[in-house]
Amino acid sequence: MQRIYLDYNATTPVDPDVLEAMRPYFTERFGNSMSGHSFGVEARDALEAARASVADLVGAPTDRLFFTSGGSESINWAIKGLAFARLDAAKRILVGATEHHAVEESVHWLRRFGFRVEVLAVDAEGRVPPVAVAKALEAGPALLVSVMWANNEVGTVQDVAAIGATCRRHGVPFIVDAVQAAGKVAIDVSRAPVDFLALGAHKFYGPKGVGALYVRAGVELENVVHGAGHESGRRAGTSNVAGAVGIGAASRKAKALVGGESTRAAQLRDRFEAGLGAIIADTRVNGAAAARLPNTSNVGFDGVLAQELLVDLDRRGIAASAGAACRAGVHLPSPTLSAMGLSRERALAGVRFCIGRFTDESAVDEAVRRIADSVRALRHASPASAAKR
Ligand SMILES: Cc1ncc(COP(=O)(O)O)c(C=O)c1O
Repeated sequence: MQRIYLDYNATTPVDPDVLEAMRPYFTERFGNSMSGHSFGVEARDALEAARASVADLVGAPTDRLFFTSGGSESINWAIKGLAFARLDAAKRILVGATEHHAVEESVHWLRRFGFRVEVLAVDAEGRVPPVAVAKALEAGPALLVSVMWANNEVGTVQDVAAIGATCRRHGVPFIVDAVQAAGKVAIDVSRAPVDFLALGAHKFYGPKGVGALYVRAGVELENVVHGAGHESGRRAGTSNVAGAVGIGAASRKAKALVGGESTRAAQLRDRFEAGLGAIIADTRVNGAAAARLPNTSNVGFDGVLAQELLVDLDRRGIAASAGAACRAGVHLPSPTLSAMGLSRERALAGVRFCIGRFTDESAVDEAVRRIADSVRALRHASPASAAKR
């Protein structure tokens, strides 16, 4: 049985071109980018070329882009680094209700130091209304606002331009988690009023364990990883040159493909949703009325628990998930779907299917068939249907 991977928001395979670009940096070009000799120069040149490619993907000046170990570290750095840089500022932190754990847990940790966290509610499609941000900022000063560019579970794309403009009017730094958005939609921080932007390579066909943080010029930020003077003295630790080369190559490819790929993914996603709706009764697509990532489909089948469906689908060779990969195996309603106002039952039913660069029409059609078989089998076996028989 051919396995079908529909979990591209959890992670992506490394693109073969990216792997090829990285390969020499594990072996013959293994130098430490801080060394003065030719091996070091070679590594340093590769690191800086990669930085320019990542910066180009998001419209950032190259010298404002810092490499990290991934999206989580970038988010932790932005939030904690900002908090510690502005200890004399307001202790009030505003975050969207559907942020990733990396944001939620970072701000939660800051509570120990007297920071207060206020959650910005989302609407039924998962959007943080810009007027709600304006209202919250009019009510009093804040240290920071953190709202993701696009949601990992449902794909909802936030109105970053309007939220950022509001933050700027109030002089409040705006942190944006763009881990899911990068490579799927165009990002340009030279136009968007964003102060910090977090990226992770493994979501756009780069390697795991490398990411980047864009820091707008003039915005204060404390270092959080202390040691030697890597990353222009901003983040210590011998540079992951191969990883940086990987995120650089992945960025170049993402930039070249993003327009065509997002159209193609949206067509496949629409085909997938239409296919499911046509053959499975009581199918609901969550968040479908909002601007969404083109590859992401969060679907609930009434009466079918996501966790049971996922186990059955895995047996049938379909890889999908309920919410974030880091929540796999958690039998609680998705906090994101709950924040969107779904009932507990519907939130427990939501399954995330994500299309990627290597998904084609035949995979989508086959997935629809296997999902339909699975939903039918589970509905048939459920106590409610047994009672009717
Ligand atoms: C929206 C979002 N933010 C942050 C992260 C964390 O990124 P990383 O896995 O690179 O640490 C993820 C990963 O699932 C994500 O989906």
